[in-house]
Amino acid sequence: MRVLGIESSCDETGAAVVDGHGEVLADVVASQVKEHAPYGGVVPELASRAHMRNILPVLREACRAIDGGLGGVDAIAVTQGPGLSGALLVGLQAAKALAYARDLPLVGVDHLEGHLLSVFLRRGDTDPRPTFPYIALLASGGHTAIYRVDGPGTTSILGQTRDDAAGEAYDKVAKLLGLGYPGGPIVDRLAATGDPDAVPLPMPMAKRSSLEFSFSGLKTAVAQYLKKEFASDRPTEAQVANVCASFQRVAVETLARKSLEACRQTSIPRLVLTGGVAANRGLRARSRELAAGQEVEVFIPPIASCTDNAAMIAYAGALRLAGGARDGLDLRAYSRDPGFRRGKIRA
Ligand code: KG4
Ligand code: ZN
Repeated sequence: MRVLGIESSCDETGAAVVDGHGEVLADVVASQVKEHAPYGGVVPELASRAHMRNILPVLREACRAIDGGLGGVDAIAVTQGPGLSGALLVGLQAAKALAYARDLPLVGVDHLEGHLLSVFLRRGDTDPRPTFPYIALLASGGHTAIYRVDGPGTTSILGQTRDDAAGEAYDKVAKLLGLGYPGGPIVDRLAATGDPDAVPLPMPMAKRSSLEFSFSGLKTAVAQYLKKEFASDRPTEAQVANVCASFQRVAVETLARKSLEACRQTSIPRLVLTGGVAANRGLRARSRELAAGQEVEVFIPPIASCTDNAAMIAYAGALRLAGGARDGLDLRAYSRDPGFRRGKIRA
């Protein structure tokens, strides 16, 4: 079974082909970073237009990479939500057109479920994979939450951010420092050269048992510090690095501590890190450090699986199809996580 996955929920247009075992046969992503960089964040209208331009070239390239091209595809999986409505509609419409024209089964996939199962994608490696259940930290530009994953489709949310996502906080701090977009990788790189104790910043949601996050206060603390200290002159390179290191220390500490606390509270000794922020070197190192003291095994998929991609959508779709799921051509997009209040991603 070869599933063509389509992803267009935010600022990456993706098409990928994955088999039922998670083997990635093709994985194409067109990034819109350049489009949104001048604004320091994703502009929804620009995202929809870029998806419109990118979707067919991306689909063509993914199909070209497999034997038989589109003729070698057995089913179509597409991101249904959560995400930007106008952006989601582009992928959904393309998926429906292909399914209709080729008479192929179609399934909608929850973007977050795709992220949570991305650890099972196979990209020619022999790395160990977790067994169910596991705890997953999903931290990206749009989402930050901790999940308990009992199996495909049986996922519950244990805690999430009350305001900004972790990646969003990185992007905003980078913007305050005039560092460019996306800010995460830049702040991460500069943090390595700075002093993490140079700027006193508050630890958000510091209560040990809480699995909730909050990043907006941390970002505001950085903004206030910069306003106070650098009202008349610009910070030097070393001072910028100190701000990055101090922010990163607190952001990473809260993400790592709460993830391990979730493992402790559920007695589940397996932790998966995913989402764009899982690329963060500080987060990887600190999580592994805390996990070692708690005998928790940490699994971090390769970056191509952590950031937005269509392979994770194809794989989650393959599992839904294997379970007998089929969607009709009336498949709808949803912008918010439908399980937001229920505490479940998919019932
Ligand atoms: O998962 P992703 O590619 O897209 C979504 O937001 O869904 O994540 C992108 C986010 C951006 O906010 C980016 O700044 C952040 O992940 N990011 C990082 C790092 N690399 C990417 N944040 C911290 N450290 C990094 N090394
Ligand atoms: Zn995502």
